[in-house]
Parts: sequence; C-alpha cells; structure tokens
Amino acid sequence: MTYQLSINGRVREFDLAHADTPLVFVLRETLGLTGTKYSCLQGLCGACTVHLDGSPARACRLTVEDVAGMDITTIEGLSEDGSHPVQKAWLEGQVAQCGWCQPGQIMQAAGFLNEVPKPDLSEIKAAMDGNICRCGAGPRIIEAVARAAEIAQEAGQ
Ligand code: FES
Ligand code: FES
Repeated sequence: MTYQLSINGRVREFDLAHADTPLVFVLRETLGLTGTKYSCLQGLCGACTVHLDGSPARACRLTVEDVAGMDITTIEGLSEDGSHPVQKAWLEGQVAQCGWCQPGQIMQAAGFLNEVPKPDLSEIKAAMDGNICRCGAGPRIIEAVARAAEIAQEAGQ
C-alpha cells in the first residue's frame, strides 16, 4: 500500500508491504533517515525519539497509520545546519560518547524545551530520565539541556 507522511517539512510518499512496520524502520529503511536509532524496540530506552507535532514520541511504538496527518521531525530535520540550541549545547559540552543514544536524547531535550523553556534541574532530570545512555554521558546530557535553555533565551528563541 502507498502512504504519505509529512517528514522534516516535506511530504514523502512510499510503499509499505506491512502496515504494522514500526515507524522507526520506515524512517530508517524505507526513507533512509538513519539518524533515528533504536535499541529496545519496546518504548523503554528513548533511542528512537522523534517529534510528532513538536512533541517527543517513540518511533518504535508507532505505525504509519498512527502518525497519519501529523508533522514528523527527525534528528535530520531539527535544524538545517546544527544551529538548534540543543545541538549547540551538545557540541559545546562534548556530550556524546559512542553516540548511539544521542539523536534520541537531543530530540527528547528539544521537545521538552519547547514545552518548558526555563526548566529547573529537577524538571530536566525528570524529562530526560526515560532516555537511557549506556555510556557515561548522563551528567553531560543534563548539563547540556540546561545550557540549551540558556542559549535559547540568549537568542530570544
Ligand atoms: S527503541 Fe524505541 S524506546 Fe527503545
Ligand atoms: S553515548 Fe553511548 S549510549 Fe549514550
């Protein structure tokens, strides 16, 4: 069957043999958007986080029918040039280690800051708690979310 989805500001049309294919595999394998990662495939780790209408969502637990008509943003579409405040803060803080969890962390952080632009530390920790990092980047992730909020405020975003 042929489907259309709005992804990163573009309408993408594609054929899919199995309607229950998880969105994360549609993004990665059908559409070539391999920035979105996966690990648990059970909604537990956050590696597959994308935005649906600006809010974080786990692409391993969704199908194309679940997201029909919504604006989907993947890590590739967060900014054209790495200039999103979260991306700037991540680079500044040298956050990534192996990198596998990082697109999901960044999308979770960006979605959270859309909703809570001036968070305190406990709000940041709670928002990022469900995104698992198996390396040692956890403390840098929390610091970078706080820094991203500052960068956004400095830029008047
Ligand atoms: S792969 Fe989706 S939450 Fe872990
Ligand atoms: S940086 Fe390696 S899993 Fe998070």
